[in-house]
Amino acid sequence: MNNRELIDIAERTYLKNYRPAPMVLEQGEGCRLRDVEGRSYLDLCGGIAVVSVGHGHPKLAAAIGAQAGRLMHVSNLFYNDRAIALGEQMARRTIFDRFFFCNSGAEANEALLKLARRYHFGAGAPERTQLVAAEASFHGRTMGALSLTGQPKYHEGLGPMVGDIAHVPYDDADALEAAVSERTAAVLLEPLQGEGGVRVPSPDYLRRARAICDAAGALLFFDEVQTGYGRTGRFMGHEHSGVEPDGCALAKGIASGFPLGAIAVKEKLADALPPGTHATTYGGNPLACAAALCVLEIFDEEQLVQNAEQGGQYLAAGLERLVQRHKAAREARGQGLLRGILLADEVDPGATLAVVREAGVLLSLAGGNVLRFTPPLCVSREELDEGLAAVERVLAAPPLRD
Ligand SMILES: Cc1ncc(COP(=O)(O)O)c(C=O)c1O
Repeated sequence: MNNRELIDIAERTYLKNYRPAPMVLEQGEGCRLRDVEGRSYLDLCGGIAVVSVGHGHPKLAAAIGAQAGRLMHVSNLFYNDRAIALGEQMARRTIFDRFFFCNSGAEANEALLKLARRYHFGAGAPERTQLVAAEASFHGRTMGALSLTGQPKYHEGLGPMVGDIAHVPYDDADALEAAVSERTAAVLLEPLQGEGGVRVPSPDYLRRARAICDAAGALLFFDEVQTGYGRTGRFMGHEHSGVEPDGCALAKGIASGFPLGAIAVKEKLADALPPGTHATTYGGNPLACAAALCVLEIFDEEQLVQNAEQGGQYLAAGLERLVQRHKAAREARGQGLLRGILLADEVDPGATLAVVREAGVLLSLAGGNVLRFTPPLCVSREELDEGLAAVERVLAAPPLRD
């Protein structure tokens, strides 16, 4: 069947909550994807910052296949060797000591929310229930994560949200200080806002957030679902700032597309969720953890964090050139291989994305008007050049808003 025939079936059978691009993908290798009609695309979207080791990685495919034949699922009534090995690896590679595995970024933030309230409850401060997050943030679509998400358009028609959550402008430490009190359980921030428009905060913002939380006795959490696992050119996004949060949420690149999320916390939070207070059936199953362990091996063998750093600098220089040359591009921003170009107001972002795609390059939009680049971390300079050239051709005569 061709693209149209398959999409007709999807349009009859899917719920209508997505608006996918009009092609059906069936195969991938590295940074290339192919649709059912044999058309090839350069994937600089990477499944929205997920496919960290590239599509169809033979080592990852073999590890998943082998583990599927050995053991896939036992539930959390029992230990499994792959989850233990993964926790140990993550403890070695991060500042964190304790891990809880789940299945997505939203679930990881749900767990952080519950952990924050339950921690203070256990510490004799049950009145500390307030959570503070940032405007324009994105933390996921389940009710707790959605309530933390500081974008009212995603709340519309779905209220009431989870209570006692305040939102403050991002990158405004004074506003954060004014919102945090002895009633605050935790502050949750992205070290760099991804969905909000690839916004890198000013250098001392996270440091001040740490000081504000310490002064008020509140926990500081980072949502590293998009920024973690090498994406920004460091293993964890917060490493750029030198600021240590009490915990963070992870997902996306952690198993390069195999569904897995995690929270990672410091030792002082080890007892925050006593048995029975939180759980998930699939979380930490041996198959997902085997995939994540293999991803870490590939990171080491192929030096993918270093490639994200160096490739990221190369991409940054290319995006900066586009801003110099074309008035359709107003600003280049980001870190590592999480970057974007802010489009000028008169440019139609959705149409621009579509024209770039028709030219064979896949990107995504963030913040409504930022063309976002989140390629697999193995992307080469030649592939980045190819993508930049395609974007440049479109920016030279961009589609305009009506
Ligand atoms: C920072 C951040 N947190 C949470 C999420 C939600 O993750 P998931 O879609 O896996 O639930 C996302 C997804 O884009 C994200 O970027």
